[in-house]
Amino acid sequence: MCGIVGYVGNENARNIIIDGLKRLEYRGYDSAGIALADPEQGMIVRKKKGRIANLEEYISGENLFSTIGIGHTRWATHGAPSDENAHPHVSADGKIALVHNGIIENYVELKKELMEKHGIVFSSETDTEVLTKLIGVLYEGDLEDAVFKALDRVRGAFAIGVISQDEPGRLVAARKDSPLIVGLGRDGNFIASDIPAILKYCRQIYLIENNEVVVLTENNVQIFDAQRRPVRRDVFNVTWDADAAEKEGYDHFMLKEIHEQPEGIRNTVERRMDDHGEIVLDGINLTRETIEYFNKVYIVACGTAYHAGLIGKYAIEKFAHISVEVDIASEFRYRDPFVDDRTLFIAISQSGETLDTLAALREAKKKGARVLSVVNVVGSSVARESDDVFYTWAGPEIAVASTKAYTTQLVCMYLIGMYMGRKKGLLDDETYQTLMNELLVIPDKLETLLQKERVVQDLARRFYRSNNVFFIGRGPDSYVSYEGSLKLKEISYINSFAIAAGELKHGTIALIEKDTLVVALATQDSLFEKMLSNIKEVKSRDATVLAIAKEGNTTVEAEADYVFYIPQCPDELTPLLSVVPLQQFAYYIAKMRGCDIDKPKNLAKSVTVE
Ligand code: G6P
Repeated sequence: MCGIVGYVGNENARNIIIDGLKRLEYRGYDSAGIALADPEQGMIVRKKKGRIANLEEYISGENLFSTIGIGHTRWATHGAPSDENAHPHVSADGKIALVHNGIIENYVELKKELMEKHGIVFSSETDTEVLTKLIGVLYEGDLEDAVFKALDRVRGAFAIGVISQDEPGRLVAARKDSPLIVGLGRDGNFIASDIPAILKYCRQIYLIENNEVVVLTENNVQIFDAQRRPVRRDVFNVTWDADAAEKEGYDHFMLKEIHEQPEGIRNTVERRMDDHGEIVLDGINLTRETIEYFNKVYIVACGTAYHAGLIGKYAIEKFAHISVEVDIASEFRYRDPFVDDRTLFIAISQSGETLDTLAALREAKKKGARVLSVVNVVGSSVARESDDVFYTWAGPEIAVASTKAYTTQLVCMYLIGMYMGRKKGLLDDETYQTLMNELLVIPDKLETLLQKERVVQDLARRFYRSNNVFFIGRGPDSYVSYEGSLKLKEISYINSFAIAAGELKHGTIALIEKDTLVVALATQDSLFEKMLSNIKEVKSRDATVLAIAKEGNTTVEAEADYVFYIPQCPDELTPLLSVVPLQQFAYYIAKMRGCDIDKPKNLAKSVTVE
């Protein structure tokens, strides 16, 4: 977790860094700090617990100026959020400052050594301070050399930015398993955890690889591999717009992103069709023979992406008749799963930087699987380490609670399932055409659905004081209920629980009592009657039921207290529609409860720690 940014050039680094940190706040926001190397005043370090705004206010009275600096926004792992634990950290003489994203695993033994051999005194509980002090001890006038030597000694994951007061024109950065990019600007060069942080200043980017060290000056950027050999890197030109990362008049990024779903889906589908209406997988070479050679598909992800994986299982099994296992990344990697070269491993990740997903991917690769990833962030670690990448074209997602990334992930999973089914000759023309036509009109249906926001708002007003909410559904609806429940709990802090409707009677129904809100997804024509029975079950325990059903299925009104209708569409694809009122429901409830919607407590957008 955490975000880092750095600058060396001829502008005031202070402003560039504060601005970049604000754009990185989604990566963590429990404390923030900045270090500026001033030839006269020495190393100036300011750090503060809380949001970037706190830091900004803290330094507002000071006239800070330097043409080199680094900054950090933190999501605590080692040591509670506090001013002391905030980054940057400094060397024992205070001359070297460092920001870090990741975890130094062997920090305890290094700390002991630094204390015993060098008498170093530590002022924080962080692993990062240990690395900083180590660089300080190894420093003999050449920062690059000291960083190389220190990195030889550390185990773990890191993206770091380091500056020294004695070399005020040089910024040294390095990465292993945590994201790092370099921006090439007209008035200087940049480092950052992601592209939007510096897009205002430059569009030419170097994507830094694992175990590389970068040395930046105002006019030059050099990349080195672990053996200190220079590396040539192609420039990556960013074509998308920085405005896409702004709120554009919406109260929150989450609401904006909910409303961007028709466009995201349109982009994700339309770019994947050839002139004959067949699916193209961006040049991914999956022939009929290759597909038939796979005897198993593993889909692995975390959080919302995992919920998309559940629908992916449904789509691939239904359309391509291949057995699919879906796993949570942090579980997959430690249970020695049965994976070999006949396994297709699909990693789903919005950020492409989730460490558990990345580690699972590496594990699968090691065992010989073919790795295909479904990723939103272009050039991210998951994308780069996969054999094939199938991008979701959702655009930058800023709100911690994922919305448009989820629906575009669903589209990708449908497309992959249908493509495989088609190649295997299992999807006849008629079924294929119906599904494809439907995918093409889903964005229009979603636009109509989004216009019913008022109805969802009224429902939210009715239920925002709830303490417990249950979500139930069958088939794909049960997977959507997981996502609806996650959305609600993560942004409104209401205790919510999702369960397959048929499973409710095996224990969980004991928790249903008078006025408990049960959100019942009943969009599956083939399971409609069964869902009506489940609704009856909870109604007879005095629950209040809000049902989500397809237009026209009005019999549900006889059982449920409230019904929200989604447009008609084939059963298989209803998740693309039914999840949207659940996202809006969570959003408005959180808003009515006064929650910090885009940055919920204890969470971060991109989880780059285990
Ligand atoms: C975090 C976010 C979730 C996200 C999950 C996986 O927990 O808060 O919204 O679903 O990470 O992230 P990824 O970037 O891999 O999709």
